[in-house]
Amino acid sequence: MLQNKVSEIKEKSTDEIKTSQSERELYAIQVKYLGRKGKLTAILKGLKDLPADKRREIGPIANEARNAIKHLIAERKKELSEQIDWEKERIDVTLPGKRQEIGHLHPITLVQRDIEQIFTSMGFEIADGPEIETEWYNFDALNVPPDHPARDMQDTFWLKSEKEKLVLRTHTSPVQIRHMQKNKPPIRIIVPGRVFRNEATDANHEHTFYQFEGLMVDDDISAANFRSVMKIFFENFFEQKVELRLRPSYFPFTEPSFEIDMNCLVCGEKGCSACKQSGWLEIAGAGMVNQKIFAAAGYLKNRYQGFAFGGSIDRLTMMKYKINDIRLFHSGDLRFIKQF
Ligand code: DAH
Repeated sequence: MLQNKVSEIKEKSTDEIKTSQSERELYAIQVKYLGRKGKLTAILKGLKDLPADKRREIGPIANEARNAIKHLIAERKKELSEQIDWEKERIDVTLPGKRQEIGHLHPITLVQRDIEQIFTSMGFEIADGPEIETEWYNFDALNVPPDHPARDMQDTFWLKSEKEKLVLRTHTSPVQIRHMQKNKPPIRIIVPGRVFRNEATDANHEHTFYQFEGLMVDDDISAANFRSVMKIFFENFFEQKVELRLRPSYFPFTEPSFEIDMNCLVCGEKGCSACKQSGWLEIAGAGMVNQKIFAAAGYLKNRYQGFAFGGSIDRLTMMKYKINDIRLFHSGDLRFIKQF
């Protein structure tokens, strides 16, 4: 019986070896018969359990079969390798390799990092807050009254919620409150982050964009401090001299409020499409923190003074890299994104 089994294995394996077409196939055959769990291996392993006379009979046959299979495999391997067309198989090691595509940072991220680097060099900390915000932090605490147009369904993405009303934050200003609730002056923070507005998009407007908020609070921080910090920031950011202009404006969370303009670097103040022919560009809203905001954050009224500002990172990125359409940032257009 065992004898038959051995000769059957020998026949079948010989057949398979002779018709095999590749080294890989040969290896599979070797594993199938001679591997750790191979068919012939099983018989060889079983020899020790046989009665002595049987063992003496089968042992040599099985060993002979193993040597024969090994030999056939080696021979077939040699044959196959002689058939290989080495000219075709030749690898030209002097050919250039396949380029590995590696990613890179989005221009908005690059600018965000520039902003963070410049402000941290002036002793500002980076703070963060949630993108899903409560109505209170986004509006009430910032003295935005319920009838203010910014709360209107048209500007704000309201979320369905059970208890408190939730919104996708429309600006980074709520982080001012969150930070002051947990920290006492002196405060110097910069808050880069994503914000959302329910707006029709065009070359200058996106429903999703990035802002950077700043807040500096202490016993006697003045508008002069603010102007100086801004000037240092913008000259570092654009790596050249810039002119700043503070115009009176209105924000519920600052009193007084300003709009910061900067001379147009695209045209050198001659007037171009970027600055709408005026020579100046609006770059951020700002002001001296309204005492009502300190009160909302839990500070004593009239105890501290500070300034706050908020600008669009998208806008700065557009100016720095002379990008003329905000929608390019999230377009997924590789022709655009690969330029950075
Ligand atoms: N949060 C304002 C906006 O999104 C920008 C702003 C204006 C931020 C004045 C401020 C500020 O901190 O003082 O339009």
